[in-house]
Amino acid sequence: MKTLLHVKSSIFGDDGQSVQLADRLIKRWLQQNPEGQVVVRDLAAEPIAHFDMQTIAALSAEAEQRSPEQQAIVALSDQLITELQEADVLVLAAPMYNFAVPSQLKAWFDQIAKNGVTFRYTEQGPVGLLQDRPVYVLATRGGQYREAGLDFQVPWIKLILGFVGLKQVEVVYAEGLNMAGADVAIEQARVELDALTLS
Ligand SMILES: Cc1cc2nc3c(=O)[nH]c(=O)nc-3n(C[C@H](O)[C@H](O)[C@H](O)COP(=O)(O)O)c2cc1C
Repeated sequence: MKTLLHVKSSIFGDDGQSVQLADRLIKRWLQQNPEGQVVVRDLAAEPIAHFDMQTIAALSAEAEQRSPEQQAIVALSDQLITELQEADVLVLAAPMYNFAVPSQLKAWFDQIAKNGVTFRYTEQGPVGLLQDRPVYVLATRGGQYREAGLDFQVPWIKLILGFVGLKQVEVVYAEGLNMAGADVAIEQARVELDALTLS
């Protein structure tokens, strides 16, 4: 049985345009994988705290010396990484907020990029430790950046996914969603989505 991990970061929850595109893709995936299991990590509904000194102290403490608060921090970190390790397919619903990914999604990446677990440094540089698997990114934005060469969101997502070993990344863009012609743009994204060969 395959597992798909759906990471949502829209502050609009299930009404978010990125989430709706992701839901469409997942519906198709479930038709192809009727036994498939979908795990949802909703970063807006259950935000992850910023990566800070408390987090580092908890992750560095010896297991038997951790306070209850530190145990909770480590448990969440472990859970987020396990969800990712166990997923055969990753779906990232990724809106653009202030030219970048939502801070909720950045906080998730801060947690799952863990030295010795999802990447490690070698003499030749960093090596991703996650087994590669298909990743589908639904990139929604109010304006248009792709053609203008001003996209700091998707290249960053690809960079950090590659850093942890995930290189099979397909991106569906829905641009100009706050501009005239948004209906056409979202329809184009749906068509592109429906044409993807899903794993
Ligand atoms: C807080 C916030 C910041 C945004 N910043 C940008 C931006 O920098 N560039 C842009 O093109 N659109 C921006 N938008 C518009 C969103 O990218 C667009 O509405 C997108 O479809 C939202 O996806 P969602 O509905 O999945 O959250 C912003 C929206 C919000 C709520």
